[in-house]
Amino acid sequence: MSFYPPKITALFHAPQRAGKAVRANAAGTGASFVCGSFLRVFLEIDLETKEIRDASYKTNGCGFAIAAAEVLTENIVGRKLTELHGLNHAEFFGEIENELGRFTAARTHCAEICFDALQAALQDFRALQVEEFAGEKALICTCFGVSEDTIQTIIASDRAESVEQIGDLCNAGTGCGSCRFLIQELIDIHELEN
Ligand code: FES
Repeated sequence: MSFYPPKITALFHAPQRAGKAVRANAAGTGASFVCGSFLRVFLEIDLETKEIRDASYKTNGCGFAIAAAEVLTENIVGRKLTELHGLNHAEFFGEIENELGRFTAARTHCAEICFDALQAALQDFRALQVEEFAGEKALICTCFGVSEDTIQTIIASDRAESVEQIGDLCNAGTGCGSCRFLIQELIDIHELEN
């Protein structure tokens, strides 16, 4: 007789992605002050396609945390950053509970640390993009490493007139969204000058 529900027990006893060696280029940690557990997520992100190639995790957490991390890391492989940046808390919990059943209030923090770790890993990747950027002009979209130059070239070519259209062409603005107002400013400046 297990302490955990059957699906959690199965993943707890046979985790597939715990400690798996991935060629990670981003990592992030989530921690719980409720129980003192932490979870670190490792992501291998394709620099061209901005797609998750592989994912793994390490944790000192309980069976619930392990099961949630298994579902998370399994589900994000093959997905694009454009999709993951937009994944909100409710959608994340929906995906986890869809596969594992409902997490009670006392267990929410076990999945919470997975969500926090994923967010931190995406933030880590943004920092990497900034670090690797060597252009002369400013980097506007750190989620996708898109420079001011690139966006201005697209605007000047008349291929895009809105933030959405620019996102369709180069991904800029389709991640965390924090650069969208900068893109809009570049559009406005172009309109004023032409
Ligand atoms: S900086 Fe996140 S979408 Fe551009």
